[in-house]
Amino acid sequence: MQSSRALRQHLESLRAAGVTHLVRATVSIPATVVTPARPEPVAEVATESRPPRGTLLPVEPVPMPRVAKPAPTLPEPVPFQALDLPKPERVAQLQVLQQKVAKCVRCDELARTRTQTVFGVGNPEAKILFVGEAPGADEDKQGEPFVGRAGQLLNDIIKACHLQREDIYICNVLRCRPPGNRLPSPEEAGHCREYLDGQIAIVNPEYIVCWGSCAAQNLLGTTMPIGKLRGQFFQYGRAKVLCTYHPSYLLRNPAAKKDVWSDMKFLFQDQGIKL
Ligand code: URA
Repeated sequence: MQSSRALRQHLESLRAAGVTHLVRATVSIPATVVTPARPEPVAEVATESRPPRGTLLPVEPVPMPRVAKPAPTLPEPVPFQALDLPKPERVAQLQVLQQKVAKCVRCDELARTRTQTVFGVGNPEAKILFVGEAPGADEDKQGEPFVGRAGQLLNDIIKACHLQREDIYICNVLRCRPPGNRLPSPEEAGHCREYLDGQIAIVNPEYIVCWGSCAAQNLLGTTMPIGKLRGQFFQYGRAKVLCTYHPSYLLRNPAAKKDVWSDMKFLFQDQGIKL
């Protein structure tokens, strides 16, 4: 049931990205644990408390608007096949998707209150794709994800991993700022899922890092707390997914920085890189 819904979501996002053909593949879609626990001990079942935004909502996988019937050019449903496009094609497809997002009015309140949509930035050929929660006030003003205080901390983490922001692709569960920085509702996350999946399909990363429980729970379709999701890889399409604490949480709880660092070491160790 969950995999057929996920499949439909993928097909929709691929169609949104202009893809008309799929090739049979062998990988499966969300959300399978592919590795056991990390080599080092981790903090127990921590959850991110966010006083300004209230308690965390358990987020269930949200049904996407249905495609009326499969496009005639699509063969029988097949497991998710990530795209492997040349760079100019990725740039072009991301632009098409971005233009669609800029006009999006699926979430009435968000469309009325946003300054602009915040699509995503970075390397269209990135090996690592970051997923955050939603734009805040700074992002809403500047039209780019993670440019506020949390973004500065994220930049520091990227540098500590010997990378530059431009090496990564960065986006969010939502592309509009929720008023007052409240948590995205499951409905809003569902409306935006096609765009998130489209970006993932086009960039086709090897790794996805979910920053915080909103990103992790939405992408993986789970209500598990972030403290339990850390320390292992999940599979989403061809990407290995690592979940860790949100930089905003780290600003309030600096003691958790060591856990994020441990997560980064885990991520890079899998690539054969010792941090
Ligand atoms: N927090 C997020 O999750 N995303 C942003 O873009 C900014 C802050």
